[in-house]
Amino acid sequence: MTSPAALHFTDVDLDEIGAMTGRVAVFVSESGKLDQTARRVNRLTKGALERFAESAAFNDMAPGDTKELAYPTGMVAEWLNVVKLDRKPTIEAARKAGAGLGKAKGADALHVLAGNLKQVTHVALGATLRAYAFTDHKTADQTAMKDTVFYVSDAKALEGEAAAITAVAEGVFMTRDLTSEPANVLTTTEFANRLEAMSDLGLKVTVLDEPELETLGMRTLLSVGQGSESPSKVVVMEWQGGTVGDAPLALVGKGVVFDTGGISLKPAAGMEDMTMDMGGAGVVAGVMRTLALRKAKANVVGLVGLVENMPDGRATRPGDVVTSMKGDTVEIINTDAEGRLVLADVLWYAQEKFEPRGVIDLATLTGAVIIGLGHEMAGVFSNNDDLAGQFLNAAKAEGEGAWRLPLDPAYDKQLKSQIADMKNVGGRPAGSITAAQFLQRFVLDDMPWIHLDIAGVASVKSDTAFAPKGCTGWGVRALDRLVRDTIEG
Ligand code: BES
Ligand code: MN
Ligand code: ZN
Repeated sequence: MTSPAALHFTDVDLDEIGAMTGRVAVFVSESGKLDQTARRVNRLTKGALERFAESAAFNDMAPGDTKELAYPTGMVAEWLNVVKLDRKPTIEAARKAGAGLGKAKGADALHVLAGNLKQVTHVALGATLRAYAFTDHKTADQTAMKDTVFYVSDAKALEGEAAAITAVAEGVFMTRDLTSEPANVLTTTEFANRLEAMSDLGLKVTVLDEPELETLGMRTLLSVGQGSESPSKVVVMEWQGGTVGDAPLALVGKGVVFDTGGISLKPAAGMEDMTMDMGGAGVVAGVMRTLALRKAKANVVGLVGLVENMPDGRATRPGDVVTSMKGDTVEIINTDAEGRLVLADVLWYAQEKFEPRGVIDLATLTGAVIIGLGHEMAGVFSNNDDLAGQFLNAAKAEGEGAWRLPLDPAYDKQLKSQIADMKNVGGRPAGSITAAQFLQRFVLDDMPWIHLDIAGVASVKSDTAFAPKGCTGWGVRALDRLVRDTIEG
């Protein structure tokens, strides 16, 4: 498991700067102005910082950019990171500055001379998130993350902030870890065990096993996992931080620990990427972890459907008809359209069992959403403009790309089956929308609901603002903020 670097805010003592070891960061305003700590660094380095601040190289830097100077004369530090940032930066620039430092930091210690810099907590969050690396399976690379210390003019005023930032980072890191794990490690059983371990944080965690799922009638979910050696499971995580009796927000995640496509087998090239097909469940887990760690004053329940989609003698065949928990029958034309079969039953169960105030599901559901939106934005589908607007605002504030796409009954004709109530695929046109239309059949008419298709954003092949290439943890921050802004108020 990857833990974020411990974060400290402490009062700055100018006389300590020269003796700081490892990596030291200092801020210079866009106009090249040095604050008190930067002036001390300048004096120690015999004017090197001022020369840099007056250089063309500094002039070319954008707000939030950082430049690394090695073995600065007059200081014990090995690295001096000079960050171009005004004393009152935008939140965006502050987070970007943090991300630059987090990238440079890696697992090493980092000393940040922040002084009276505003938005310093956003610098801290950016640095913490960007310093992530998934090294659990690198035998030579098992050093723990060393601390980040911010030297500020009023540490007391920032007390509590460090814990809040760490709660968010812990949630994001959990999502990234889970989504990065190979499928031989993160089996359905291992996934459930890791979620059960979160009961230490005050979450009530319940694991529903195959016999119970059978009794509940979750045949569409079970039909996906029946070709696998790993048992299908539904895990429920309840956080009761709000008023007892208040309806919870339900978060529902697709947790396909590996998606071969089943009998409708996927091509070999790139199939290894399907270790991330539990990304939706990973986000739900991460959000629940953050909410519990920061003791959110809200009632939220997270539900994940954990299955493995494998070809086998017992696997579902194309053409099979199964009955959902709701009672609707589905003709499974393509066993690779399995995520919607999992979500159908978990969505229905979530509404029956918890009578939630709203439901948000997350799923790496369709390749089509990648064709439409690429790796920058998740697809947002909703039957409720208010909830959708609130979510889009939260995502925007967190810099997590999200774009609304339509739902419309006109697409339903693509899901018509000759012999059952519906089929599980709607053909190539509007593949992400027909998937969402399928899900909507398992959502009550008056239930505020959002479906987030995160196939393009859960895992990416190049670095993003706050993560190295690989699993991003997209959505943890937006959903945490949605809870904070709309439920905790
Ligand atoms: N897990 C995939 C979707 C996916 C594709 C996620 C690429 C991440 C990256 C999903 O189960 C799937 O296979 N969808 C099919 C649906 C089709 C058969 C209707 C797809 O998108 O091709
Ligand atoms: Mn599939
Ligand atoms: Zn899938």
